[in-house]
Amino acid sequence: MTTNEIRSKFLDFFKEKGHAVIPSASLIPENDPTVLFTTAGMHPLVPYLLGEKHPAGSRLADVQKCVRTGDIDEVGDNRHLTFFEMLGNWSLGDYFKREAITWSFEFLTSPRWLNLDPGRIYVTVFEGDADAPRDLESVSIWQDAYQSRGIEARFNERIFAYPKEKNWWGPAGMTGPCGPDTEIFWDTGRTHDMRFGAECHPNCDCGRFIEIWNNVFMEYNKTPQATFEPLAQKNVDTGMGLERVVAVLQGKSTVFETENFETLLGTVGTIGGKKYGENEEHDRAMRIVVDHVRTAAFMIGDPRGITPSNVDQGYILRRLIRRAVRYGRQLGIEGFFTSKIAEKVIELFRDAYPELEKNRDRIIGELDAEEDKFMRTLQNGLREVEKVKKEFEASPFIPGETAFYLYESFGFPKELTEETVGKKVDESEWEKAMKAHQDLSRQGAEKKFKGGLADHSWETTRLHTATHLLHKALRNVLGEHVEQKGSNITAERLRFDFSHPAKMTPEEIKKTEEMVNEAIARDLPVHFQEMTVDEAKSGGAIGLFEDRYGDKVKVYVVGDYSKEICGGPHVRHTAQVGRFKIQKEEASSSGIRRIKAVVEPNAAPETEPAGPKE
Ligand code: ALA
Repeated sequence: MTTNEIRSKFLDFFKEKGHAVIPSASLIPENDPTVLFTTAGMHPLVPYLLGEKHPAGSRLADVQKCVRTGDIDEVGDNRHLTFFEMLGNWSLGDYFKREAITWSFEFLTSPRWLNLDPGRIYVTVFEGDADAPRDLESVSIWQDAYQSRGIEARFNERIFAYPKEKNWWGPAGMTGPCGPDTEIFWDTGRTHDMRFGAECHPNCDCGRFIEIWNNVFMEYNKTPQATFEPLAQKNVDTGMGLERVVAVLQGKSTVFETENFETLLGTVGTIGGKKYGENEEHDRAMRIVVDHVRTAAFMIGDPRGITPSNVDQGYILRRLIRRAVRYGRQLGIEGFFTSKIAEKVIELFRDAYPELEKNRDRIIGELDAEEDKFMRTLQNGLREVEKVKKEFEASPFIPGETAFYLYESFGFPKELTEETVGKKVDESEWEKAMKAHQDLSRQGAEKKFKGGLADHSWETTRLHTATHLLHKALRNVLGEHVEQKGSNITAERLRFDFSHPAKMTPEEIKKTEEMVNEAIARDLPVHFQEMTVDEAKSGGAIGLFEDRYGDKVKVYVVGDYSKEICGGPHVRHTAQVGRFKIQKEEASSSGIRRIKAVVEPNAAPETEPAGPKE
């Protein structure tokens, strides 16, 4: 079965079970300040998990593009990918544990679907603690499922229980919906490695079992006091890693041996004159190159595509491309090559993700441009390395700090510095510098990759409504060419990127500000309506249409002032926004301007967000 077939089978199965198939949302979260990228299928669905009505219904299925970069410097083993596709089925207050578990088992083992051997499937459940009891309900449903295939599923033999750290899904340290999960593992049949203990079990690190699917039962709400209250709307959120399931079905022991990766590794191999599987070090470099270029192509080719830069998503993209280039050099590849691999990525994935074909020129152009920039940086680095060579002529080692500076500022890998200078870098100093840096970047990364539920606090809700008012005011003041190119809201400020060819004049800024404050002063009601994309367009709604759910979308209407397609939430009437102030107007990238603005905290909080129009 090919990757494309497995993707379709999953969606067909859940269609038969009454689910509406929704398209993948963008890789770049909309209006969510807590993460840089969509890290799980549940991410774009947060408002609906919190109780808003989804236009497509209460049973959904999708294949969501995800990026998890975590610590980029650790990617390179044969299990972790920075980009992956997550297959998911969703119950928004509809079915719960019995259906979810029974269907997972059916999809995996039924001869009509994936036809996997049930005897090689193992599962885990939440073991229970002071916050929530052991998930005995799931245990019993699993036992019924196995029984239907003649397997007696005993506890600690087939079904295993683990604490929160393994079998609980919900944002650590944050509030909101969460709950126990049950995870499904595949027994690769590899013999247990005794270095990991006497007994093997699904979460053992020896590599015998691989996790393929997670079913989360969101039945609790974690309060700010860290107590767990039962949720009114109980949801199911599942996530199956497509690449891993493909590996299992194709009988491969790693994702890199599956057909798409084989093709990509072959492409790198041809360019570099190497064959995968012949040399450990080269294999690792080849894996890094294909993983990173694939991720970069999806990032640039996304409907809300990004470009390499020194901040936020653009910075992650830049690091991925540059790391791919460095490993390409290690393979002996010279000259531009990432765009050649990207061509292959487009070819392999364009049927499932037409945006890649549509944005082909942008993908190729940005990759070439970034490689070019990186080459120049390296050339400048070379001059620095020459200075270092002179400076430390008499010393037996290159100081770790110096080597690290070359690495950080010019992307000069340690080995390259050593080669060029003709001396070794002081290893312990280097380690120290790396570690200090990693701790710093980890702190930053944890903040940004925490994932999970968006912060729908009152501050961000007000800023969200202010963003709609600003968008409309900009179109009034500057013209209809103004289109949203990005939005990011924290509890303190909003940030809005839009297309406009020139710097705004002080008069234009003032006028925009006044227009927004006028809409606030008129205290317009805010509500939403559900309609088809066509109705939204012909009704004059603005906003991002590209990746909207098939049948129905939500259009938020602010009095007679603005109509914009959006998932919400918003305040109920505009006076709640407070006084609006633009703090900064600057260039974001070519042809794109960026505004940062705040609202004064003069509105009283209220719990009810804007509701539908009667
Ligand atoms: N949200 C769950 C996960 O990402 C399904 O594992």
